Amino acid sequence: MSTQAQARLEQAPDRGGRAQPMLIASHLKRYFPIRGGVLNRTVAEVKAVDDISFTVLKGETLGVVGESGCGKSTLARLLMHLLPRDSGDIIFDGDAVGQLHGLPLRDLRRNMQMVFQDSYSSLNPRLPIEQSVAYAPRVHGMGRAQAKRTARELLQRVGLRPELFAGRYPHELSGGQKQRVNIARALALNPRMLILDEAVSALDKSVEAQVLNLLGTLKREFELTYMFISHDLHVVQYISDRVMVMYLGQVVELGPVDAIYAHPRHPYTAALLDCRLTVDPATRIETPPLVGDPPNPINPPSGCRFRTRCPHAERICEERMPLLGEWNNRPESHLVACHMVHAGSGHSKAPPGGLH
Ligand SMILES: Nc1ncnc2c1ncn2[C@@H]1O[C@H](COP(=O)(O)OP(=O)(O)OP(=O)(O)O)[C@@H](O)[C@H]1O
Ligand SMILES: [Mg+2]
Repeated sequence: MSTQAQARLEQAPDRGGRAQPMLIASHLKRYFPIRGGVLNRTVAEVKAVDDISFTVLKGETLGVVGESGCGKSTLARLLMHLLPRDSGDIIFDGDAVGQLHGLPLRDLRRNMQMVFQDSYSSLNPRLPIEQSVAYAPRVHGMGRAQAKRTARELLQRVGLRPELFAGRYPHELSGGQKQRVNIARALALNPRMLILDEAVSALDKSVEAQVLNLLGTLKREFELTYMFISHDLHVVQYISDRVMVMYLGQVVELGPVDAIYAHPRHPYTAALLDCRLTVDPATRIETPPLVGDPPNPINPPSGCRFRTRCPHAERICEERMPLLGEWNNRPESHLVACHMVHAGSGHSKAPPGGLH
């Protein structure tokens, strides 16, 4: 984490010094049943999120990376309660969520909003965008005129002049403009945290940069906390204070962005970072450092799930699942779930021949 980011986190406003957690997820689990046979019984389960624990600190951006299918969106949907969890606990700003006497879902949804990748399908094609943005405040009891004013202010705030855009329908907007509307919609209830799931991935690079800048400005202005899910490691590095690396439904590494990018400790993180494309011929990748698909999440390898692609794997990796350690921790903690790191083998880079 940059020194500035760390100072900001440690002096989180009005919470007495050290950064306080906005969200605590502990031991979250979600398996999807696979049904088959004439009786349509459950024949197997996809371990999409398998015992994941972490905190998101107030005011930070936690980046989440990992290969396709590792469970990032499932995790986001569990946090938003769009999907029920099999087990585990979620605490939002000190209140348990989804329990009898905990924070009601309505309050959670007001405080935590999500922006998805597919900006078109998340907007109602039959509503002008002003009404789309005003919809949630109306549902939450705001009067028509006030909701309209709020919507116009937010459209202005995300760079869409209301006099030009308020009456347009989603099909009359570009991808970047639609994503701005989605961000305005997410902000309409004045939330404290946004989960951005591949929110800029479908945009071209120049529009992506504009939307990322907008997210940075809005974060400061509205004192937001972000969880930012993306395939793009450059973007995650640019926007995050800390990064969480997922592999096959689990967290393998978690720590400050600078530490993770400069000194990845898990061989999977190292290989993932080595996969970043470069145009510099001197550093161009000859052999992809991460080859082969991740193992089947229905039947993941025993012990460490990465062991089948890891050049450092030893017998213990097959026998015991490595643990991440003390996850509910200080912002500067750099945690890794790898037996070999804990045993002090000192590896930190993917080998030149690649991981198989
Ligand atoms: N409703 C569902 N029923 C069965 N399996 C599912 C369901 N939703 C997700 N999965 C499986 O759960 C695993 C995790 O999926 P998820 O969408 O969370 O991955 P992801 O990390 O977001 O991937 P991507 O980067 O491609 O968006 C995948 O193996 C996926 O096939
Ligand atoms: Mg996803």
